[in-house]
Amino acid sequence: MNLEIKLAELKTKFENRLSSAKSSDEVNKFKVEALGKKGELTQILKQLGSLSVEERKEIGKKANEIRDQLNEKIELKRQEITKALVEEEIKKETIDVTLPGVDYLVGTKHVINIVIDDLVDFFRSMGYTVDDGTEIEDDKHNFEMLNIPQGHPARDMQDTFFLTSDRGNDWLLRSQTSPNQAHVLETHDFSKGPIRMISPGRVFRRDNDDATHSHQFYQMEGIVVDRNITMADLFGTLNITLKHFFGSEREVRFRPSYFPFTEPSVEADVSCFFCDGEGCSICKNTGWIEVLGAGMTHPNVFKAAGVDPDKYQGFAFGMGMDRFAMLKYGIEDIRDLYTNDVRFLEKFEGES
Ligand code: DAH
Repeated sequence: MNLEIKLAELKTKFENRLSSAKSSDEVNKFKVEALGKKGELTQILKQLGSLSVEERKEIGKKANEIRDQLNEKIELKRQEITKALVEEEIKKETIDVTLPGVDYLVGTKHVINIVIDDLVDFFRSMGYTVDDGTEIEDDKHNFEMLNIPQGHPARDMQDTFFLTSDRGNDWLLRSQTSPNQAHVLETHDFSKGPIRMISPGRVFRRDNDDATHSHQFYQMEGIVVDRNITMADLFGTLNITLKHFFGSEREVRFRPSYFPFTEPSVEADVSCFFCDGEGCSICKNTGWIEVLGAGMTHPNVFKAAGVDPDKYQGFAFGMGMDRFAMLKYGIEDIRDLYTNDVRFLEKFEGES
């Protein structure tokens, strides 16, 4: 066959192959097959020897042209393949800015903490210190030093979780935050100033959980001790505290009550915020809601801690944080405060 025709065929064959090539590996392979040392073009050129000088020149020139043309096409094809690859890559990496973002669950402050933090800020602004105390206490501080000796009926009111230890049953989960009164009285150095302290924290009682009872709940204890502290100080302090927390339009009243560690003892009520004092099911038609217990520190409590009751007087109070939260935010079941259902917890987002 005429070499010129062979060359033309070679060109068309490789042009076709090139146009269908999908990868640069394929292109390289075709290049070697067509133009490589042992490639088809070389095979054709080997046959030049059988031609006349004129023809050799002619065909040689043609062969060079075809080699150049094929090289150029190969280069173009390579560029085309690279470009397609880059474009595909870019397409894959495109960011759709209209897609919705990933929803992060950001925790919210627990409603009990909202209440505690609010009151802590308030009492700090009046110069109170804050001492959390410990959840594990001994019988001495939880009961004895608070004028609740063994066999005292007040122990029954606070059915306690005792912890067994080789020292006997004198370790317990505190049933109230009042033991912090005993601790501060025992350790306070009055030459440095009076006691003005609050103790927020968790307490425990052997109660069966229902809508209004929980085996764990939160209290905030308060105690103020100095010379010449009177009941007027107690009334004034609790009056502004309750108005701060429940609203300045609330009325506050005090009723006589009994606690072993205070004498006299009182309970404080605020006017019912559901019916505004008219009487409803929440306030049991009295128009008032009981919110805390308080009183003047009992001389026996001072004595047990080594503080002279003739020199010092004091008042103390105990507030239920769960009750405060439930009343202020209209929470009907105390268990909601402890089951940590996110739907419940989220309701208080932004409250403080
Ligand atoms: N500790 C009492 C209780 O858990 C609450 C209480 C009442 C605390 C009167 C006080 C107080 O400091 O003076 O029921």
